[in-house]
Amino acid sequence: MSELKTTFAGLELKNPFIVSSSNLTNSAEKNLAWEQAGAGAIVLKSLFEEQILWESSHIMTEEHPDAGDYFQGYLRAHYLDEYTRLVKESKQKCSIPVIASINCYTDQEWEKFAVLIQEAGADAIELNLMAIQTGLKYEYGSFEQKLAGIVRHVASQVKIPVIAKIGNNLTNPLALINMLHANGAKAVVMFNRFYQTDIDIEKMEYCSGQVLSEASELAHALRWIGLASAAVPCMDYAASGGVSDGAGIVKSLLAGASAVEVCSALYKDGEKRLGTMLDELKAWMERHRFASVNDFKGRMKAKDLEKANIFERTQFMKYFGGKQ
Ligand SMILES: Cc1cc2nc3c(=O)[nH]c(=O)nc-3n(C[C@H](O)[C@H](O)[C@H](O)COP(=O)(O)O)c2cc1C
Repeated sequence: MSELKTTFAGLELKNPFIVSSSNLTNSAEKNLAWEQAGAGAIVLKSLFEEQILWESSHIMTEEHPDAGDYFQGYLRAHYLDEYTRLVKESKQKCSIPVIASINCYTDQEWEKFAVLIQEAGADAIELNLMAIQTGLKYEYGSFEQKLAGIVRHVASQVKIPVIAKIGNNLTNPLALINMLHANGAKAVVMFNRFYQTDIDIEKMEYCSGQVLSEASELAHALRWIGLASAAVPCMDYAASGGVSDGAGIVKSLLAGASAVEVCSALYKDGEKRLGTMLDELKAWMERHRFASVNDFKGRMKAKDLEKANIFERTQFMKYFGGKQ
């Protein structure tokens, strides 16, 4: 019998399959169904501060231009109330770890939101830290410093583990992860997926690109988890982005992840996909005679970090040099 148990950010998981943050996890009933389908943990949909700000400014300008901070305060309380209820109800129904997720826009709100979420009973908090930088006077490194500050402030206010979910648009994720660890993060999720931009050439309008990921996108997580798990081994890692079958879980664990966070594959195929992916993981472990996840986790992490860049460049030349 294969042992699928793993630990992630100090949480004991019965297997490495985490249902990723999205509307798939926005109700306690859905979360119970994921647990019954076999999930090791769930990450609740994010509480977006930006949405609260956007909705309040929309009401203020269009309907009640004089209402000032009133709507903002009201909406914030309303959304926070709804979110803490989601945490409490999910905790009541589920026995697997329930990870809350927040995405704050301003510097001030992260800590307040995190404390309320901890009080509601969440097992951990995932900070959704993805953003793009467009300022022409941008100072290189200031975004990374800001992320480290957010993690430090939140981690100093809560006792539950803090997990950082980052985007794949960073110059050097390893240096950032090292800094996040020093500032209190217990784990990193690599990577969140940006909204995909496309253009409708008939209407000549911007529109949404492909919403759900493809298996090929896993390449980003495999590269960076393979490097990061060797460079910053005291951090736990979860792969996100393109994990769509049992092989995707195996590859992520071999690269050094402790878990995977899956979203698109579940949007496409629902609960049955979760079971199939875990069965495929077990079958692979049995074929290769691995009794537990720990027996092979990190086997394929980078062996020599100094040579990683040379390795990438030679592979690139080999591949493209041979193409006619
Ligand atoms: C419809 C949709 C909604 C999402 N909502 C959130 C969210 O609220 N918070 C978050 O951190 N990530 C969100 N994500 C990102 C996913 O959690 C996941 O990190 C990303 O889609 C990559 O994983 P995948 O390839 O398995 O889809 C969302 C993704 C999709 C497709």
